[in-house]
Amino acid sequence: MAYRIAVLISGSGSNLQAIIDRIEQGVLDARITLVVSNKPGVKGLERAEKHSLPFAVIEHKQYPSREDFDAALVRVIKESGADGVILAGFMRIVTPVLINAFSGNILNIHPSIQPSFPGVNAQKQAAEYAVRISGCSIHFVDEKMDHGPIIIQAAVPALAEDDEKSLGSRILILEHRIFPQAVHWLAQGRLEVRGRTVVVRDAPPPAVVHIDSFPALVSPGLEQGF
Ligand code: GAR
Repeated sequence: MAYRIAVLISGSGSNLQAIIDRIEQGVLDARITLVVSNKPGVKGLERAEKHSLPFAVIEHKQYPSREDFDAALVRVIKESGADGVILAGFMRIVTPVLINAFSGNILNIHPSIQPSFPGVNAQKQAAEYAVRISGCSIHFVDEKMDHGPIIIQAAVPALAEDDEKSLGSRILILEHRIFPQAVHWLAQGRLEVRGRTVVVRDAPPPAVVHIDSFPALVSPGLEQGF
């Protein structure tokens, strides 16, 4: 049986879409049991509906504490039968209530080369800092924000004329490649965590892919179809 995931979102859900697309293409071996947004009316929910996926809105504002909110998340996620939790632009700090309920099975995407620029608006922070290389990271979630063991990262050039938007859209194209890949490895049980180091069993070697006319370095490399 395919590995079952709940995908948590707060907004556009373009990363959710990338995961849906790879599943529908038969490349990513997983099944989405639930999409949860902490905000009503976001585009990601429309995407879930369009693809006939179960979805729910759980508004963090309705809960007195982060732990109470996470307990509500755990309830619906467990009810859906999910094995793992994918934070796809979910803009909330999660607590041990969620982390311990799905220990070792929670992934997050962050739009920077970690450990740089944790928190919100990483693309804006990078553009304002005027870095010359930026990118994105997929990592296991631990108790610190944007911190857990890194599974895969991708790097793109940042240009002198870049702003948050232009740099962010270059990074986003890579996000859509590496996130479904990392979810696939999780689903296949190919990720082994040794301290901070994640070993991907039979990982492809680091590779250069092209985003528009830009070279991007991806490590580990991507498998066929990702
Ligand atoms: C993505 O860029 C993701 O990396 C970022 O939010 C965006 C969500 O876009 N996540 C974070 O900043 C987490 N700290 P999406 O809703 O279109 O997938």
